[in-house]
Amino acid sequence: MGKIRPTYLRCEYRVNPMGIDSTEPRLSWLLESIGQEERGQIQSAYRILVASSRENVEKDIGDLWDTGKVESNRTFQIAYSGKPLRSGMECWWKVMVWDKDGEPSDWSEPARWTMGLLDPSDWKAKWIGYDAPWEGFGTELPPLPFLRKEFSIEKGIKRAILYVSALGSCEVRLNGQRVGEDIFIPGWSYFRKRAYYRAYDVTDLLKVGRNAIGAILADEWYAGFCGGWGKRNAYGGEPRLLLQLSMDFQDGTEGVLVSDGTWKAKYGPILEADFYMGETYDARREMPGWDSPGFDDSDWEPVAVTDKVGIQLTSHPGEPVRKLMELRATSMHEPKPGVFVFDMGQNMVGWARIKVKGERGRRITLRFAEVLNPDGTIYRENLRRARCTDTYICKGEGEEIWEPGFTFRGFRYVEVTGYPGRPPLDAVTGVVVGSDVPIVGSFECSNPLVNRLLQNIIWSLRGNYLEVPTDCPQRDERQGWTGDAQIFARTASYLADISAFMTKWLIDLNDSQRDDGAYPDVAPFTGAGFGTPAWGDAGIIIPYILYLVYGDKRIIERYYERMARYIDYLVRNSRDLLRPDHGYGDWVPAGAETPKDVLATAYFAYVSKLMSEMAEAIGRKEDGDRYRDLFEKIKDAFNKAYVLPDGRIKGETQTCYVLALYLDLLPESLRPLALNHLVSDIERRNWHLSTGFVGTRMLLPVLSRFGRDDVAYRLFLQETYPSWLYPVKHGATTIWERWDSWREDRGFQDPGMNSFNHYAFGSVGEWIFSTVVGIDTDGPGFRRIRIHPHLDGLDFVRARYKSIAGEIGVEWRKRGDKLEVDLLIPINAKATVYLPAKGPEYVLEGGVRADLKEGIAFLRMEEGRAVYEIGSGSYSFVVEGY
Ligand code: BGC
Repeated sequence: MGKIRPTYLRCEYRVNPMGIDSTEPRLSWLLESIGQEERGQIQSAYRILVASSRENVEKDIGDLWDTGKVESNRTFQIAYSGKPLRSGMECWWKVMVWDKDGEPSDWSEPARWTMGLLDPSDWKAKWIGYDAPWEGFGTELPPLPFLRKEFSIEKGIKRAILYVSALGSCEVRLNGQRVGEDIFIPGWSYFRKRAYYRAYDVTDLLKVGRNAIGAILADEWYAGFCGGWGKRNAYGGEPRLLLQLSMDFQDGTEGVLVSDGTWKAKYGPILEADFYMGETYDARREMPGWDSPGFDDSDWEPVAVTDKVGIQLTSHPGEPVRKLMELRATSMHEPKPGVFVFDMGQNMVGWARIKVKGERGRRITLRFAEVLNPDGTIYRENLRRARCTDTYICKGEGEEIWEPGFTFRGFRYVEVTGYPGRPPLDAVTGVVVGSDVPIVGSFECSNPLVNRLLQNIIWSLRGNYLEVPTDCPQRDERQGWTGDAQIFARTASYLADISAFMTKWLIDLNDSQRDDGAYPDVAPFTGAGFGTPAWGDAGIIIPYILYLVYGDKRIIERYYERMARYIDYLVRNSRDLLRPDHGYGDWVPAGAETPKDVLATAYFAYVSKLMSEMAEAIGRKEDGDRYRDLFEKIKDAFNKAYVLPDGRIKGETQTCYVLALYLDLLPESLRPLALNHLVSDIERRNWHLSTGFVGTRMLLPVLSRFGRDDVAYRLFLQETYPSWLYPVKHGATTIWERWDSWREDRGFQDPGMNSFNHYAFGSVGEWIFSTVVGIDTDGPGFRRIRIHPHLDGLDFVRARYKSIAGEIGVEWRKRGDKLEVDLLIPINAKATVYLPAKGPEYVLEGGVRADLKEGIAFLRMEEGRAVYEIGSGSYSFVVEGY
């Protein structure tokens, strides 16, 4: 029997995805050891079997694809190439692997994917909605339509799949039950071009006899308030539903039920629902049984039918938005009589569930805020026009429990008014909502403030990875700002598996690309500009990150022409390869203005370089050379225009130096000079940073790379303003938009732009993982790993990172003059390990010179570090007198 086995089977980055539309989906798995773990373990071969039914896969019949034994250590990005995959097909698959000694494993547990509706003609459904007038509801916004249809099933069902899309979003119900746990389906797209759809297996919800299907339809991104421009209907007016239920009967026949003119509609208890504004629910208007068969819908009206919508339907390739967890309130206070403020203990995103016993018609109002005024009331000015208010009207039937489902916002505090008497602490529960991206990174160290900082980064990720990577979750904005997204993406990739999430967002970003090649400021596009330096550049940077972190070349191929068009756009819109002075520059810095042309030209060079690497990765050698050449020319132009012989750079801000050093824009001889200017500026500010969104990501990486860990750690551990730990010291539980979102001497920043949940400055997470912990990929996809911890300012660090190639662990600890380093390297991988040591004789494992131990090869000494190569397994190094 082999010593390894495959686990965590995924298709297109997801576990058992439904309704995918890739006809060559990529498969992956992780490997784990059986019994005693062995060093240097590898997968020497694999066999994948794909079957059209569970029975076949269980009988080892790969009627769709049987790779046979393939000699290869690959475990991801393996493209299906069996029989053609067609709409609605069900594919069951499993894998077996051979270990380094050529011994096979058992088959893995079977996994599944199903195919979506691949051809537009597969859709028989019509777009339906309900546009009846709603005057008299006493609300500002329209009520939510409830749609329903009853139908009969005469014979036994073998399998039923529900495909659903919407202009807007919906909740689908079958025979009284919610279909799936996903929220805001089908998700946010650039609706002018495309709507997503999702698929659900509903076999168990159907029955022979009468059935009822229902849907609640909401405006959401499509027709609600969306974008900071104070308007509704970003993409269209009336929301619509498109739904198709495909049934395979046990007798081999098929049936289909679709949304069409035979459905009926009515407004129900949800009087209004909007992302920014909130939800109003009148429980007196509930319609018990509306989603079950036998309900009397004689007073319901016919639905509106839209014949042609004319946009593309695409299977949603990302994780759905879901309820991620619940938080209990940690305290409650009453700043004014009858006004109760609950503290959730954490700035979170989602909504609140309430529990109340009130008489019929009583209105309970919930208002939300991230922070408090000094008098204990909630501070709402920074929400701008977002009302962020939910209202519940009691039906008066004992204890009532309610939570909304068609709104969300960022908040830590919930203000409750209208409650009968003094509410108990458990009257309010925080429901955390976000895209369900798998968390893959963990970190802990000897400094509690740093540990909290990391938690804050994770909470800002969780709060802003909601369908698209957003800037903030609370004010009337919440857009897919491209600059914020690219700045934070690499950090995010250490904490969460962002492969599927970003694969989806890249569709939105490319749908929003302008014809001239310019990428937008926000995607899906709702407004704002195009081709903005460091913002539009996300169109190149995000695919590059997916390539780097997940070894994803298909994403490069998919968008290659579009990315090339963007580079052409930049060339056309530059003068002598200098990109003009426009855009947002180094957004919200701490007292230093970086010239926009310097930043813009540096980023022009950056994306040209990434483009050359990506061209090469997909075998376009000539293009690769061409883009490298472009990079070199931009670099020359940059030096001529902005760099003085003494290494000073126009603007002389920290960001200027950091950009030039990080992006290799300077000739070798000027680098030490530029570094000195950078460090002097930091010193002049009494060891504080001055960078904004753009410079911050690169600041500590540059200092570490050029040998100034001392300065990097000094900035990192700085507790006075401006610094990462200043907000932490003052109770922040998420990353703030501004270094001075709040200051002890000045209070809150300008409410016009002051979010307490903006992840951009959390981009320091990348340095924490890659440099403090010291885990980085060496080439695409973590098949080769670089372990290079920088130890300066902490006593111990413990981190794990579940990469696409397997889980990596690093733990280092200083003990007197000894340094202990424990490593975990995944099966198949090779790691180059850099340990600070006077020589290999100072590095031990189990009391023996490490390089005499099995599986540890000493390579060389390099810059005061002993360099080793190791394979998979666990290692415990001790460096003496390091
Ligand atoms: C957003 C930012 C965004 C910026 C562009 C702001 O309103 O919140 O995070 O990148 O606009 O300047």
